[in-house]
Amino acid sequence: MQTWPDSFPRIPDEEWVQSPVGELALKYDTVEDHGWYRNLDRTIQDLAGFLKPGSILLDYSGGTGILAGRLLEEVAERNFGVLIVDSSPKFLRLAVEKLGRHQRMGFRLIRYLKEQKRLQLLQECLDPVMQERGVDAIVSTNAIHLYYDLQETLTSWRKALKNDGRVFIQSGNIGMPYTPAGAWIIDETVDAIHKAAMEIVAEDETYAAYRPTLSDSQRMEGHDALRRKFFLPVRPIDHYLERIEAAGFTVREVTHLPIEAHVDQWYEFLSAYHEGVLGWVGGSRRVEGNDPAPADVEQRLTLIRAAMERIFESRSSFQALWTYIAADPK
Ligand SMILES: C[S@@+](CC[C@H](N)C(=O)[O-])C[C@H]1O[C@@H](n2cnc3c(N)ncnc32)[C@H](O)[C@@H]1O
Repeated sequence: MQTWPDSFPRIPDEEWVQSPVGELALKYDTVEDHGWYRNLDRTIQDLAGFLKPGSILLDYSGGTGILAGRLLEEVAERNFGVLIVDSSPKFLRLAVEKLGRHQRMGFRLIRYLKEQKRLQLLQECLDPVMQERGVDAIVSTNAIHLYYDLQETLTSWRKALKNDGRVFIQSGNIGMPYTPAGAWIIDETVDAIHKAAMEIVAEDETYAAYRPTLSDSQRMEGHDALRRKFFLPVRPIDHYLERIEAAGFTVREVTHLPIEAHVDQWYEFLSAYHEGVLGWVGGSRRVEGNDPAPADVEQRLTLIRAAMERIFESRSSFQALWTYIAADPK
């Protein structure tokens, strides 16, 4: 059965496809081996139950292709196509490197429209032939909490999806009215690390050099804003459900699942974004105008680790809560 419409190039002839694979994308891709990336298991199971031979799944914000790779492996016998659409040419470039040889994979870049200060909508980056066909399902994993234009994005999904299609959304950064004791919304650990690090600096002489920064409210506010850029404030579940409905969907299921995250692996992930976690330790070009000295970066990483020991009370893992939402066109 033919998956792609005629005259639909799986890999577009665009400059980003020819660029070298970058470090940051390779670093992100290692999360595939992290325990907390088992958050994809439930989504894979849901997609395996929905996709049919010949279906096209649009993996919106598919990044480096971790979900797509697992789907090809775990549901190998069924001939559906996966079209990864992402706003990062670097992540998408790595996805092409890893999966481009599979005839079942397609890739499209969402470009940033500088003058309009927004990302393209699906209708602006998908070939007309694909829009006419419509996709059978849309999935978004670990990404919806990053969408600035959430309503417009969801509305564009509805237009791209067939009437009998389904949307599968999941994220560990959706706020809940009640979080059980000991469970975390994963990005909220960052604020807790920041607060614990301030306590450690105030208590421990080793870090005395950073104490003047703590009382410099202007600098600290600059770093608070920087932290919120790296790790967006968590929005409550109703914020998402209301917009999903307003985009023309009926929410059919909302599930919350605990996912075990190893502290070591979460540290490894966060250490790649240390500037956004504890930028005030040593400073940041984006706040003070100068890069931190290498020794300050070392101290920053040590402090992130020490703060994690404190908030997780020396345990080796913690429970993060993931939210799974399925919705159908009205
Ligand atoms: C944390 S990664 C998750 C990647 C992948 N879905 C996964 O589960 O491994 C978030 C992805 O969302 C993409 N992204 C961020 N904001 C976006 C937006 N507004 N529209 C589309 N993609 C976006 C990023 O480029 C990145 O690939």
